Amino acid sequence: MIKIKNLKVKVLDKQILNWVSLDFEVWKNYLLLWRNGSWKSSLSSFLMGNPVYEYESGEVSLEWNDLLELSPEERSKSWLFLSFQNVPEIAWIKLSEYLRTIYNISVTKPPLIPPFKGGEQEKSPLLSEEGQGGGFKWVSPFIFKRFIKKHLTELNIPEKFLDRDLNVWFSWWEKRKIEILQMKLIWPKYIILDEIDSWLDLDAFKTIANLLKELSSENNTIIIITHHFKILEYLNVDKIYVMKDWNIAREGWLELADEIIKNGFEKL
Ligand SMILES: Nc1ncnc2c1ncn2[C@@H]1O[C@H](COP(=O)(O)OP(=O)(O)OP(=O)(O)O)[C@@H](O)[C@H]1O
Ligand SMILES: [Mg+2]
Repeated sequence: MIKIKNLKVKVLDKQILNWVSLDFEVWKNYLLLWRNGSWKSSLSSFLMGNPVYEYESGEVSLEWNDLLELSPEERSKSWLFLSFQNVPEIAWIKLSEYLRTIYNISVTKPPLIPPFKGGEQEKSPLLSEEGQGGGFKWVSPFIFKRFIKKHLTELNIPEKFLDRDLNVWFSWWEKRKIEILQMKLIWPKYIILDEIDSWLDLDAFKTIANLLKELSSENNTIIIITHHFKILEYLNVDKIYVMKDWNIAREGWLELADEIIKNGFEKL
């Protein structure tokens, strides 16, 4: 569980989260809603460890750990994944090497916290016995390329993309598919989707929504930040948080979504 208690965060001397308390439980999916320029992306970036966001006070725990004590790398190794509102393009990092690195790191270095309470991290089918025994041998580029082919086919991503720089000149749709591919490689426990449904055409949206439905399981939590409600037709959402004035204005179940669809945010 991610538990946020009385959290206060500033950015450039502007109060951005003020006394925020909310929980994200595993096995549940969440919807975070409110107008443009509230604090949805800021909360996601803060949770991932973006240093621009200045912690003031409050607590954030991730399972048995103090999240704020963990580096961004440790947070992602503990399987926190952020699908960015604006997916960054990174030149000079080849997509194939990036994917191989995150795959190797997530399967060979056990995260700080076991991904499943009391359980063992799933062993990679690609690791040699020696590797699994503690030697942590990385999967070679050659084997990884063979392994990843089935995912590329599944997602309809051309194999030659592997030689391109990470997200550089990728279309919005292609960037989203690469994010889904990352999720399929590392199976994050807490997945934050910051407007993954924006900018997609109808068919692309449907494909992404179906892939997310496939990814959603009792072992993960999907936190959806959105301005649209169409995603509710595909994914089960257990709880809705409405974020306003730097804090949570309302929390509720699907009836709350119906109320917003009917009356808009103004009447909340
Ligand atoms: N790094 C930053 N530097 C300066 N201001 C920031 C920064 N991050 C967020 N803000 C400000 O904080 C406020 C909330 O921004 P945020 O991006 O979190 O909103 P949002 O709810 O995600 O909006 P949208 O729905 O448009 O994506 C805005 O006024 C924004 O300008
Ligand atoms: Mg945003």
